[in-house]
Amino acid sequence: MSLESTGRSTWKSRSGFILAAIGSAVGLGNIWRFSYLTYENGGGAFLIPYIVALLTAGIPLLILEFGIGHERIGSAPLAFRKIGKQWEWLGWWPLLFTMFGIVLYYSVVIAWCVDFVFYSINLSWGDDPDKFFFESFLNLSSSPSEISTIQTPILAGLLAVWLVTWGIIVRGVSRGVELANRVFMPLLLILTLILVFWSVNLEGAKVGINAYLTPDFTKLADPNVWVSAYGQIFFTLSLGFGIMIAYASYMPYNSNMTGSAVITALANSGFSLLSGFGVFAILGFMSVSQNQPLDEVVKQSIGLAFVAYPKAISLIGDAGPLFGMLFFLSLTVAGVSSAISIVEAFVSGAEDKFGINRKMLATVLCILGFAGGIIFTTDGGLFWLDIVDHFINNYGLVMAGLLECIVVGWFFKLDIIRKHLNKVSKVQLGTWWNWIIKLYLPLFLAVILLNQLIRELFTAYEGYSWASLIGIGWSWVGITFLISFIFALQPWKTDSHLEKGRGEEL
Ligand code: ALA
Repeated sequence: MSLESTGRSTWKSRSGFILAAIGSAVGLGNIWRFSYLTYENGGGAFLIPYIVALLTAGIPLLILEFGIGHERIGSAPLAFRKIGKQWEWLGWWPLLFTMFGIVLYYSVVIAWCVDFVFYSINLSWGDDPDKFFFESFLNLSSSPSEISTIQTPILAGLLAVWLVTWGIIVRGVSRGVELANRVFMPLLLILTLILVFWSVNLEGAKVGINAYLTPDFTKLADPNVWVSAYGQIFFTLSLGFGIMIAYASYMPYNSNMTGSAVITALANSGFSLLSGFGVFAILGFMSVSQNQPLDEVVKQSIGLAFVAYPKAISLIGDAGPLFGMLFFLSLTVAGVSSAISIVEAFVSGAEDKFGINRKMLATVLCILGFAGGIIFTTDGGLFWLDIVDHFINNYGLVMAGLLECIVVGWFFKLDIIRKHLNKVSKVQLGTWWNWIIKLYLPLFLAVILLNQLIRELFTAYEGYSWASLIGIGWSWVGITFLISFIFALQPWKTDSHLEKGRGEEL
C-alpha cells in the first residue's frame, strides 16, 4: 500500500526524513544538558557510560521506534492501536506529557536563548552574569509556591518561539518541518563548527579538553553516573516522546529504516561530542584566565550555558558579542527544530484519530503551548522547570520506553517488526536485537526506575517540599497518564486504525 493512497503526509526524500529526525534529536539536550551533565559527572568520566548507553539503549530503541512507525504506518496512538486495542493509551501518554509538559518549559529555555542573543550585543550581564541570570533575568523567588511576577522579556521570547513553531507546523510535513530542518541543520552545523574552532584556539583550552578526554574509571562504580547517561540518551534521541514513531510513519515503503536510525543516532551523538569540545575548551579558558581549578569555575551546573558562557564571552574581548550571539543563536535553532517535532508528534496523533484539520490543530496547540509556558516565565518558574523536567524525563520517558519494550516485545510479535525492517533496510538485524528489546532493556530500565524511586521516597528531590513534588512533579506525570486513557476511549473518526501493518501484508 502506498502512503499516498492512505492520504498520509510524506517526506519528500530520505535525506529530508533523516534531517528532520536529527533536527528533533539535536536540541538543547546536546548543548545545554549534555555539557552540564558531562561537567557535573567529571568530564571524560561521563563519556564511557554515555557511549555504552548509546549502543545498548539508544540505537536499539531508535530502531524499534522507527520500526513501529514504519511497519504500523501510524503516529504513536495509531501504531499502538494497531498493535492492540488495549494499548492505544501508550501512544497517547508520551504525546501528552511532551506536548503539555516538556515542550512547555523547553520553549521557555529557548526563549532565554532568544533573549541572550540580544543581551550578547552589549554584554548586558555586566560583571556578574550569575547575579544577572538568577536575580535580574529570572528574578528567582525562594520556592515554587512563591509566584508574584511574570518576566516580560522571557514572555516576549516565548511568544516569538511559538509564532515560529506555529508558522512551520501549519505548512505541513514536507513544506514545513522538512524544509525548516533543511535550513536549520546545516546552519546549526556551521555555527557549531565556528564556535568549536574558535573555542579550541583560546588560551587554556587544552586544560579543558584534557579533562574532557581523560576517562576516570573509578566513576564507573557510581550508579548515578549511569542513570544520568541513560536518561540523557532518552532525552537527546527524543526516545519515548512518540516523535520518532510519527516521523517514520511518513516514510514510503522502500526506505532503509535501520540505516536511518543508525545515522540519526551517530549524527546526534557526534554533534554532542563535538560541542563538548567547545564547552570544555571554554571552561579551560576560564580556568586559566581566572586562575581557578577547572571543577570550580562553574558553581551551578544547570546554569552552565547562561552563566559560564556569558562570563567567558565577556573575557574574550572585542569578539565577545559576536561569539555570544552565535552561541545563543545556535542554541535557539537547535531548540526550535526539536520543539516543532514535539508539536508535530501530537498533531500527527490527533490527525490520525480525530481527522481534525492540521491548521486548526496547530493553531490550538501553539496557543495552548504558549499559555501553558507562562508559569515557567514567572519568578518561581525555574523551580517549576526543574521539577517538571526531573519527573517527566526520569520517570515519564523511562517508563514510556520500558512499557514500549514490554508491549511490543511480549504482547506482539516483535519479529514482524524485525523482519519488516530487514526487508526494507540494508543493515540486517539478528535475533540479538529481539533480546535487547524483550529482556535487557526492560530489566535495565526497571532497575534504574526502582533505584531512583526508592531513593526519592526517602530523600525529597533537591530538598523541595513534598507538597511541591507531589503537586507539580507526580501530578504532571499522573494526570497525563490518566488523560491518555480518556483519549484512547474516544471513537475513531477515520478508519485508519483498521488498516494492517506493512509486515502483515507481506
Ligand atoms: N532531543 C531533544 C533534545 O535533545 C529533545 O533537546
